[in-house]
Amino acid sequence: RTESIPSALSKPNSSLIDDRNLIASRKEDHVRLARAQQARAQQRNLGEEYQGRVYDELDSCEFIHTSLPEISIDQVDISTDLAGIRQNKPFFINAMTGGTELTNEINMKLAQVAGRTGTLMALGSMSILVKKPQVRDLYRRLKQENPQVSFIANLGAEHSPESALAVVEAVDAQALQIHINPAQEIVMPEGSRDFRGWVDNITNIAIAMRERSIPVIAKEVGFGMSRQTAQILKEAGITYIDVAGKGGTNFITIENARLREKQGRSSGQTEPRLGISDFSYLKSWGISTLRSLIEVRGVEGIVPIASGGVRNPLDAIKYLALGARTIGLSGIFLDSVMTRGIEGTVDLVETWQDHIQRIFTLLGVRTIQELQEKSRMVFPASLIEYCRQRGL
Ligand code: FNR
Repeated sequence: RTESIPSALSKPNSSLIDDRNLIASRKEDHVRLARAQQARAQQRNLGEEYQGRVYDELDSCEFIHTSLPEISIDQVDISTDLAGIRQNKPFFINAMTGGTELTNEINMKLAQVAGRTGTLMALGSMSILVKKPQVRDLYRRLKQENPQVSFIANLGAEHSPESALAVVEAVDAQALQIHINPAQEIVMPEGSRDFRGWVDNITNIAIAMRERSIPVIAKEVGFGMSRQTAQILKEAGITYIDVAGKGGTNFITIENARLREKQGRSSGQTEPRLGISDFSYLKSWGISTLRSLIEVRGVEGIVPIASGGVRNPLDAIKYLALGARTIGLSGIFLDSVMTRGIEGTVDLVETWQDHIQRIFTLLGVRTIQELQEKSRMVFPASLIEYCRQRGL
């Protein structure tokens, strides 16, 4: 993935060492820029123009209120299971970071939150471990200090089954996420430009993991997946798809900000110059989480997971009602653990859990299955037109 570093950005005689440093500094850039994005989103009440459109559509999917729920909160059970892992709540900490000292500290904090609240935790891409086996110690410590946490390992679609096995073993993971991120790669200066062979790779990883009874989740990174992609993944042996749709953390914007920072540094300017590579016009690329969930849920044999820009418990419940098995949250957890610390983030988890339980009660449903069968929703015309054009 890091083979095609443009000469302007790579050091002379760029070696594996540079490659590792590149991954490390990229991970730290991602954390910094994703946090800045979260802060902007919260300040403007998620008002980035393209996000506005995404959220208008989601907000216009409305539950029909019932004034006679005839249910007690004691009867409500919001548990679910993901890839055979029983969960007392229908949301989890989704993939972000790790593998460097600084990002491992973030994971340590998130893992403590996960341990104290019994929340499943996916790790960010572990490709650094494939290149730099010494990093294994960081991951081993993460698991040793948080033995009760169920981790999901994470690797890109270009990796081999052996590498997939290595990252799973490093944290004794209960499942593996394979991230599929062509939009991010194409904007990244050092990213891949050749996406051939991913389907075969995913197929081989799925076979190797099945032999070891490790469930595999294919996930996007914030651009959503189409029904056609889901069908191809199903044929590749995948059961779990995390749509990771558009609307939250946006890696085109993040990679573009990195690019502009680098260009600013190399030209001694902070503002981009005319004619310099700038992808900000691509910021609304992708399929929203709502639309992507609707694309994917119709594929028989696929279990959808919804993530990407989930702002609050109501968003989460809408996605559950529309067929998601569980909900992934990334940016929100990153922001919370870095600004409010472990205690504040434990509170966040408990508050979401409490609100989900209360809203289930308000809807008069006891379980996720009842939510899916009994709740009634109305949808905006834009979504109905989307489904019509897409034949969904
Ligand atoms: C991510 N995400 C991500 N996903 C993945 O599969 N592997 C990875 O290494 C990363 N790295 C990463 C770093 C940071 C700092 C963030 C915030 C996110 C993507 C993430 O799992 C998720 O798909 C998107 O962030 C969209 O969800 P939110 O943030 O809108 O809840």
